[in-house]
Amino acid sequence: MDVLEYDVAIVGSGLAGMRAALQASEVSQGKLRVALISKLHAMRSHSVSAEGGISGVLYPGEAGDSIELHGFDTAKGSDYLGDQDAIELLVNEAPKEIRFFDHLGVPWNRDDSGRIVLRAFGGMSVPRTAFAADKTGFFMMSALYDSLLEYGNLDIFHEHYVTNLLLDGGVFRGFLAIDLASGDPKLFIAKSGIIATGGFSRIYGFTTTAYSSTGDGIALAYKAGIPLKDMEFVQFHPTGLIPSGILITEAARGEGGYLLNNKEERFMERYAKSKMELAPRDIVSRAMVTEINEGRGLIHKASGMKHLLLDLRHLGDEKIDERLPMIKEMTIKMLGIDPAKEPIPVRPAAHFTMGGIHTNIHGQVMLDDSKTPVEGLWAAGECGCVSVHGSNRLGSNSLSQCVIWGRITGEMAAKRASNTGEPSDTRSKTVARAEEEYNKIVKLLDNKGTQNPYELRSKLWETMDTLVYVYRDTKSLMEAKRRVAELKRSYSDIYIADKGRVYNTNLRDALEIGNMIELAEVVIVSAIARKESRGAHAMVEYPKRDDANWLKHTLAYRTSEEPRLSYIPVKITKWEPKERTY
Ligand code: FUM
Repeated sequence: MDVLEYDVAIVGSGLAGMRAALQASEVSQGKLRVALISKLHAMRSHSVSAEGGISGVLYPGEAGDSIELHGFDTAKGSDYLGDQDAIELLVNEAPKEIRFFDHLGVPWNRDDSGRIVLRAFGGMSVPRTAFAADKTGFFMMSALYDSLLEYGNLDIFHEHYVTNLLLDGGVFRGFLAIDLASGDPKLFIAKSGIIATGGFSRIYGFTTTAYSSTGDGIALAYKAGIPLKDMEFVQFHPTGLIPSGILITEAARGEGGYLLNNKEERFMERYAKSKMELAPRDIVSRAMVTEINEGRGLIHKASGMKHLLLDLRHLGDEKIDERLPMIKEMTIKMLGIDPAKEPIPVRPAAHFTMGGIHTNIHGQVMLDDSKTPVEGLWAAGECGCVSVHGSNRLGSNSLSQCVIWGRITGEMAAKRASNTGEPSDTRSKTVARAEEEYNKIVKLLDNKGTQNPYELRSKLWETMDTLVYVYRDTKSLMEAKRRVAELKRSYSDIYIADKGRVYNTNLRDALEIGNMIELAEVVIVSAIARKESRGAHAMVEYPKRDDANWLKHTLAYRTSEEPRLSYIPVKITKWEPKERTY
């Protein structure tokens, strides 16, 4: 086995992973050896698809904005499940990160005087989202990637799929990966590790996310005995394009777009009179599903999908071309719709997973309910649940979260690596473990099973799209649980069609599908247990938030049966939970 030794090994090359790599390289002044490992080409990570922008109070005092107000909006938006110490950290650090990316060369939209322009986003009291047209993620990623290439100490491993997280007695030892080009294993032994592999919205078929958003890093941690937090909270973005689910940025509504039903009514007036289309996503998505369920939707002829309309006609060509050029290009290419002339068919699509690996405020991965961090391991970005978004994230807070916790974890990982001796005493044990794990993977290729993994994935998507969507009820969730348990049994009998080693995407897909089934089970079991409606978790039988019993985070531990749940308190610093109206 190829064994590579690094100071810091980072899995995942989106905004969080790359920001961590840059910080680790900078604080060590290029002295520490850093590995950045990605299952894709690093620049194809899903962060490149981020469209609308990044939140942060750039001009306190103007338009009534303040750091305090951003914090309040985020806590209220989270339906008071966000940990408020983490929220305070987010809102304090966000402006610095926007300026940092300005210095890296991100072409933020600016006004005539050269100041960075801010746009409105859902649930934010005032416009505070910086943006680069509707391609913000792409520009931020490009700036980071270019900067990383200047560091000779950093090796980027494109197309390496990490299959195992190796811990030893609560201490991080390394990651085992398959080099997809050759099929050969590579063991990354490191003093510090960071998981930054993004979310798992791909457990749904109708989603705004890439096929790669399969939650691998979260599943790796779960399988290594680490608890997952708040997995029942999956965000549905109101405007997934019909029929693909491609994201139509919330900035389309931030720039003034309307949502219409089949009577051409701006129906949001009935659900969030003051914020209308710019209410938080949980509220807009529920309103849309209610409109559709009550017969005020439309039917897309080619797919038969029910939907509503996003109307941008009144914005005019000039504004659409300046602020939303990619939306225009996509709707024309995908549906032949020019948004300046025709409304766009949309419905809520799985977009973001608020839950993930249980971490403390520093992004350190926790081994138990709250006291014990895994030594030398951090999680940053969507895969880590700090928790800053609670049960519902506000649009544009995710990019801030990714880069802030990317920076924090990169710095902490580098400091630990600088202060830790060579891990030679444990090397042989780690190598033996990795060989054992790799042999199990290779054996999968010889499996004479009967189940096609892609069929299991289609069944998973159908189950999640229909039974674990915007509104949930116990009966549907129990049925989803039964079906996912069946998928788990079938998964133990899969076959992999491609028996070769070189670019065996069948093998990679099968491993991803196994991870997706595991994570779906945790979502469902956590959702069945939570007997209230809060943020993105809307239970028909329990329509109200219940702070007396449920103002707490869910933790899920893997067992040989179904996940075991326990609960920990939410940190409230300054914003007492109140009724949430918009
Ligand atoms: O709608 C959007 O542009 C998405 C932004 C976000 O999820 O933060």
